[in-house]
Amino acid sequence: MRFLDIIEKKKNKEVLSDQEIQFFIDGVTDESIPDYQISALLMAIRLNGMDEHETAKLAEAMMHSGDVIDLSDIEGIKSDKHSTGGVGDKTSLALGAMVAACGLKLAKMSGRGLGHTGGTLDKLESIEGFNIALSEEEFKKQVSEIGLAIIGQTGDLVPADKKLYALRDVTGTVDSIPLIASSIMSKKLASGSDTILLDVKYGEGAFMHTVEDAKKLARAMISIGKKLGKNTMAMITDMNQPLGNTIGNALEVKEAIETVKGEGPKDFTELCLTAGEIMLMQANKASNKKEARAMLEEAIKSGKAYEKLEKMVIYQGGNVEQIRNTDLLPQAKYKTDLESKEEGYIENIHSMGLGIAAMKLGAGREKKEDEINYGVGLKMNAKKGDYVKKGHILCRVYHDEPLSDEWIEDFYKTFTYKDQKVDPIPIVEEILD
Ligand code: URA
Repeated sequence: MRFLDIIEKKKNKEVLSDQEIQFFIDGVTDESIPDYQISALLMAIRLNGMDEHETAKLAEAMMHSGDVIDLSDIEGIKSDKHSTGGVGDKTSLALGAMVAACGLKLAKMSGRGLGHTGGTLDKLESIEGFNIALSEEEFKKQVSEIGLAIIGQTGDLVPADKKLYALRDVTGTVDSIPLIASSIMSKKLASGSDTILLDVKYGEGAFMHTVEDAKKLARAMISIGKKLGKNTMAMITDMNQPLGNTIGNALEVKEAIETVKGEGPKDFTELCLTAGEIMLMQANKASNKKEARAMLEEAIKSGKAYEKLEKMVIYQGGNVEQIRNTDLLPQAKYKTDLESKEEGYIENIHSMGLGIAAMKLGAGREKKEDEINYGVGLKMNAKKGDYVKKGHILCRVYHDEPLSDEWIEDFYKTFTYKDQKVDPIPIVEEILD
């Protein structure tokens, strides 16, 4: 087989065979195909697409390019969830504790953040001593014993994706549904769970800007999951404003703790409950949504969800006193309240702008090697559709350095106002299976 023929074929909008896709991924993994030829094929895929079968084959070949975790020695159905990423997204922390308290086994491998706020692992590491680098054996033991573990990738998972993503990043080929879907799903499939829930976000603060594009991506990922025998579902959720009220690592851990105690923000709580319903049904722990919601609400009310979170922290070596008393979590030196300079209904809160503002305080990384400052961030006191008067506190800023005029100016640009009422957007737009 010649790789040039495969490039030509995709250039001419033809469908690649299973063997050609396998040859491509083998050549990426063993580095026998030069970067310029890989990049040419990526661009041809970006421009001419792939059908469902090609996309599933690509995900499957990528999944097998490295280690595949075998969770079969953990009893029962193992669940996983994945979010396409958003601002203030601390869902795994709260949702994990809630579903584990209802008997689910959540074996979750998460990532770090780059670009704006930290990822799940960064949030967890704001807890002193929390170990995200468990061995595969420790990971499985923990999931078996308490039903919940959140760690970084173990072993050499999907090396082909690392190589392809790095090339896509510099060749304008990130925004391709078959490439995004196969990248995400290959990692989910290699992580070894039986069920997968995808939280596909849409809006200005998300990868996919419109509901339609989010649905296309969700459908492509569901199709891959199903073709490879996994119970895969997706929810399409709003990312046109930050999720919950906090952006920043320790602040988000605190909000996740409040949420598992039933004291969290409305939108974030609703997202967790809806995700929990789907996951409990996927794992046959509940036969319908109503039953699932009642189980989740009981787990919150009884304190069992909170106990799971404590247990996970203890098992993973974190300082549980910081969970019991969140004042002990990392704290920024200064707190500054920023007040509204206008009166009216809040029309828009630019979540990406706020994510970048939080990153500039130190909550996220601009470059891979940047260090995270766990204590800094934003606590919002306004949501889309709220009517605010001049002087209403929009946000409390937690910071270690004085806020520059430029930072404050950028912060205010993230809000727009309207005279007329603004209809609130539901946090969960649609559920797809
Ligand atoms: N996240 C991934 O893991 N891969 C993509 O291609 C895009 C987002």
